[in-house]
Amino acid sequence: SKKKITVIGSINMDLVTITNLRPQVGETVLGTSFSAIPGGKGANQAVAAARLGAGVTLIGCVGADAFGQELRSHLMNEGVSFCEVKNETKKHTGIASITISDHDNSIIVVPGANEEVTPTGIEPFNETIAASDIILLQLEIPIHTIEYVIKIASLYNVPVIVNPAPFQPLSMDTLEKVTYITPNEHEEKMLNEIVNMKEKVVVTKGSKGVSIWDNDQTMNIASYKVDVVDTTGAGDAFNGALAVALAEESSLKDACRFATAVGALAVTKLGAQSGMPTREEVETFLGTYEKGQET
Ligand code: RIB
Repeated sequence: SKKKITVIGSINMDLVTITNLRPQVGETVLGTSFSAIPGGKGANQAVAAARLGAGVTLIGCVGADAFGQELRSHLMNEGVSFCEVKNETKKHTGIASITISDHDNSIIVVPGANEEVTPTGIEPFNETIAASDIILLQLEIPIHTIEYVIKIASLYNVPVIVNPAPFQPLSMDTLEKVTYITPNEHEEKMLNEIVNMKEKVVVTKGSKGVSIWDNDQTMNIASYKVDVVDTTGAGDAFNGALAVALAEESSLKDACRFATAVGALAVTKLGAQSGMPTREEVETFLGTYEKGQET
């Protein structure tokens, strides 16, 4: 049967502009293309996990506007069960203004309705949290909600993955209850300033692969060489896949290998959610890649 993954996190519409030139302050330039693509770290990780075959619930909030409607039906089409914490918010649906130039992105997120994902909003879904095989969190919703969910999950012995992105400080008490933490290199530095982490840490390093610290053991996993189109959502692909593999009881090392392949495939396509591969695509990729390595 399908593993149950619950994601509590952000849902955004990504407003993606591709341009050859980035404007300087006070300057206007002509861009080359524009698309509105479903995004938000929470929704991205939920869609990644669903496409890989897990039973996924996303607890979050969108606004009463056109983007909200569109994102709601998009999640339904992706087979993600969407638990809405508040359906009468006056806040706009979260948006991310993304500029891609020369395959590098810069992002401004305006959270809007994601700010409504509060502990009181989550409370009606405590049973869903308790019945999950794994919980997946990022830091695009209020930090006290993250702390609340971690408390509930630890009460019911449900493992929790925290992807500390974008970085916000977490209390020692909260960090101690987390099962896995998945910073990128930049976030790892900031975490280390706060606490010498004892739990299982997975550091994602883009094209440099992944480093794992598992009970004082360090392991490195190489990345896959692919043609990069858009790196937006690569970390989310990785985290969604990691949750699926760990829920399926893979070892941390094998789970990281699988997640690295999913992250690699995600960067070969434009858009966060539009780039998430299916399980079949990952298996085909791994098969062909290994053959390529042999010759
Ligand atoms: O991690 C990528 C995501 O960050 C984008 O989809 C954007 O919405 C921001 O939340």
